[in-house]
Amino acid sequence: MLGSVSVQSRRGASPRVRRRRALVAAAAALLLVAGGGAVILGQHTGRAASSETTPTTSASPGPASTPTEPPRPSPSASPDPAPAPTFDRAARSIDDPNSIWVVVDKLRPLNPTDYAPDDLVEVPIPFANPPQLRQEASDAVVALFSAFTAETGLALQSQSAYRSFDAQTRVYNNDLANLGQAGADLSTARPGTSEHQTGLTIDISAQPGQCSLNACFADTPHGQWLAAHAWRFGFLLRYPADKTPVTGYEFEPWHFRYIGIDLATEMHDQGVTTLEEFFGLPAAPSYG
Ligand code: DAL
Ligand code: ZN
Repeated sequence: MLGSVSVQSRRGASPRVRRRRALVAAAAALLLVAGGGAVILGQHTGRAASSETTPTTSASPGPASTPTEPPRPSPSASPDPAPAPTFDRAARSIDDPNSIWVVVDKLRPLNPTDYAPDDLVEVPIPFANPPQLRQEASDAVVALFSAFTAETGLALQSQSAYRSFDAQTRVYNNDLANLGQAGADLSTARPGTSEHQTGLTIDISAQPGQCSLNACFADTPHGQWLAAHAWRFGFLLRYPADKTPVTGYEFEPWHFRYIGIDLATEMHDQGVTTLEEFFGLPAAPSYG
């Protein structure tokens, strides 16, 4: 490029054009010198001069590199090593019914099966049936409802939250009568195996009602916001559409289980959608 400029300048151009070409050539030469200096400076500080965001493996100044040092590999040729895992999966119990990480499914009944939390509170949110949850889950769902309305201008309500062993028995028996054994087991947990009995779970619907407790809730703005944002408040959409072979239940876009913000964030960031998969537990499609 520079060569072609200087060759052209020697051929019959006017003195004015030749002067301009000489100036351009001089400026280009200056840029080359300055660029070389920047590269050397970049090597000295351990950073590539071409990019502010290029990752570096050398934080300390160290001895200056010489210009004869071989070029550093490009970032694509040498990616940073994967960050060490920092999330402690054993930080809380997945067996203790009082733990917010307790995993309850068809193979993991509550122990004892008639467990009842000792810190249930009335949840101050709109409802179809008066909701109770454990205090921590109640605070989280109040924050979630509030953020939902602030961000969408719409409203939510609780359909069902804590259910005692006896209340779950009534729900299950009702489904059994209407749907038969297979249908009931696909939609409702047998008493002693429901997350609702932990006081950490809530069924949420739109207010006013729209596709309540129906798969089409997933297509409402309410269901879509919840699916995308519940993790920010520590909730997990516990029965995803594509995980029936893992959870044993059909898609429930209304059923949200409180697991705390740390775990919900970790699962969200990793793209893991069931507790069974996250904790390496057996799939629980049936009662075994
Ligand atoms: N509908 C869920 C599976 C329950 O009954 O806990
Ligand atoms: Zn539910």
